[in-house]
Amino acid sequence: MAAITVKNLTKKFDDLLVLDNISFEVSDGEFLCIVGPTGCGKTTFLNSLIKLYDITSGEILVNGEPVDLQRHNISYIFQENSTMPWLTVEQNISFGLDIKHIPRAQKKESVREMMDIVGLTPYRSYYPRQLSSSMLQRVSIARAFATDPELLMMDEPYGQLDIELRFRLEDELIKLWERTKTTVLFITHNIEESVYLGQHILVLTNKPTGIKEKIADNLPRPRDIASPEFVGLRHHVTEMIKWW
Ligand SMILES: Nc1ncnc2c1ncn2[C@@H]1O[C@H](COP(=O)(O)OP(=O)(O)O)[C@@H](O)[C@H]1O
Ligand SMILES: [Mg+2]
Repeated sequence: MAAITVKNLTKKFDDLLVLDNISFEVSDGEFLCIVGPTGCGKTTFLNSLIKLYDITSGEILVNGEPVDLQRHNISYIFQENSTMPWLTVEQNISFGLDIKHIPRAQKKESVREMMDIVGLTPYRSYYPRQLSSSMLQRVSIARAFATDPELLMMDEPYGQLDIELRFRLEDELIKLWERTKTTVLFITHNIEESVYLGQHILVLTNKPTGIKEKIADNLPRPRDIASPEFVGLRHHVTEMIKWW
């Protein structure tokens, strides 16, 4: 069964038609990049999935059922820093587990493991104001993975970072995903990033937004952005889009 099924999804804001009759499926454990121009409705889609917005028509199903945030364990990583300034790194990572009433020993172990994977163990007692933007994003990622979500949604999480840091965090993300096999929806307007990360790439059009194509990205990992295959696929996606 598909982890996510989107059927004839339409979303309007008053007269503004944003998502126009969109249908696609995401399989269990898939890493899907959704790439589309600024303003095409990527964030609107994620907000609709978690029911922050009412949809105009159509449906979004998780494991074949309407989304139920009480039952479906969904994590959302935003573009902006979403750490809590009054909590330490360790407490921030633990936060998602605290609200889920996970037993104490298990919680400690998950937090320790996640801090280690994202390289924040030496900074466990630091507060967000003492951290760089890439460290803050690492806290968010560790917090999201610590809850072992069945679906992880990331909305342009690395948009603000410079390129070298971005590549490092992208590699970390892939490592975490390969270990956990969480279904990931990764939103970006960066074509290279989508080709670097995705198992599939869902290419969106300008508003009113439809799907251009869902492309399989079978390049071996770790991916080499300079390889002819990588450059070829990036070029293919770029040609398909021509947003400019
Ligand atoms: N709450 C809202 N009310 C009205 N219009 C909105 C709202 N949220 C988004 N929009 C509009 O919907 C379109 C898609 O926005 P958004 O989903 O943020 O795009 P993206 O994330 O792809 O950059 C934009 O034209 C935006 O102005
Ligand atoms: Mg957005």
